[in-house]
Amino acid sequence: MKLNKDISAIVTGGASGLGAAVVRHLSSCCVKVAIFDMDEARAQPLIGETGSLFFKVDVSDAQAVARGFEEAREINGQERLVVNCAGIAPAMKTVSRGQAHDAGLYAKVIGVNLVGSFNVASQAAAGMAEAEPIGEDKERGVIINTASVAGYDGQIGQVAYASSKGGVIGMTLPMARDLADKGIRVMAIAPGIFGTPMVKGFPREVQDALAAQIPFPSRLGKPDEFAALVAHIAENPMLNGDVIRLDGAIRMPPR
Ligand SMILES: NC(=O)c1ccc[n+]([C@@H]2O[C@H](COP(=O)([O-])OP(=O)(O)OC[C@H]3O[C@@H](n4cnc5c(N)ncnc54)[C@H](O)[C@@H]3O)[C@@H](O)[C@H]2O)c1
Repeated sequence: MKLNKDISAIVTGGASGLGAAVVRHLSSCCVKVAIFDMDEARAQPLIGETGSLFFKVDVSDAQAVARGFEEAREINGQERLVVNCAGIAPAMKTVSRGQAHDAGLYAKVIGVNLVGSFNVASQAAAGMAEAEPIGEDKERGVIINTASVAGYDGQIGQVAYASSKGGVIGMTLPMARDLADKGIRVMAIAPGIFGTPMVKGFPREVQDALAAQIPFPSRLGKPDEFAALVAHIAENPMLNGDVIRLDGAIRMPPR
């Protein structure tokens, strides 16, 4: 699917980090972008810079997602590209000081990272399925979810986060199969360690230690590199039903 002014996109978590880089990249291709995020204040400079729309949507709430789609489609038309970047990563061990993992926190992480990605992807697909096919391959849309290398090699304290990202990985192939006859592709990206507010909040020495674990290049990933892969997936029709690790060959150790 060629990225140009005729394409409208939704980017969840677009106020910050990887999502914000995707918003910038898509806007530079003249794609009409709407951000679904909770943090409107953080999105303000980006909205000014790119002219993107913003909708305050909690992705874990299916009704809020439906309202967001309704309002975004009214202005930008049916989205052809959805990029799910909204996510949270609180750490807690399965048992800590004799206490079992907080069940509410576990459910919250699954709710935002996994159910949230599902809500947005499934509702986008329902809209895309009704749209006119585009181009030689008669594509109707592309959905890109963000997993994590933690979905394969979760570390100590990442039981909730790794479960949610494992779910995103597991969702990719069946969703692509479900939507194949509608001309909608589904892919996921599993980033390694990227220099976003999620990671830049760590002390310098922790960031350096993380970077040193990456075989090559031994540095944090740049959000622009994530955005470049999103754009490539959107434009390459043979990419479907798979998860691409974007991680400089890192394999996460236990801690
Ligand atoms: N940064 C990394 O190293 C890294 C590595 C692997 C995976 N990821 C994943 O990439 C995605 C983006 O991460 P990031 O580093 O850019 O994080 P970030 O914290 O910079 O951005 C996440 C965004 O999601 C939004 N958000 C959180 N909960 C939401 C909700 N319920 N509804 C709507 N929006 C919500 C936040 O407001 C924020 O703008 C996440 O899914 C994260 O798990 C990041």
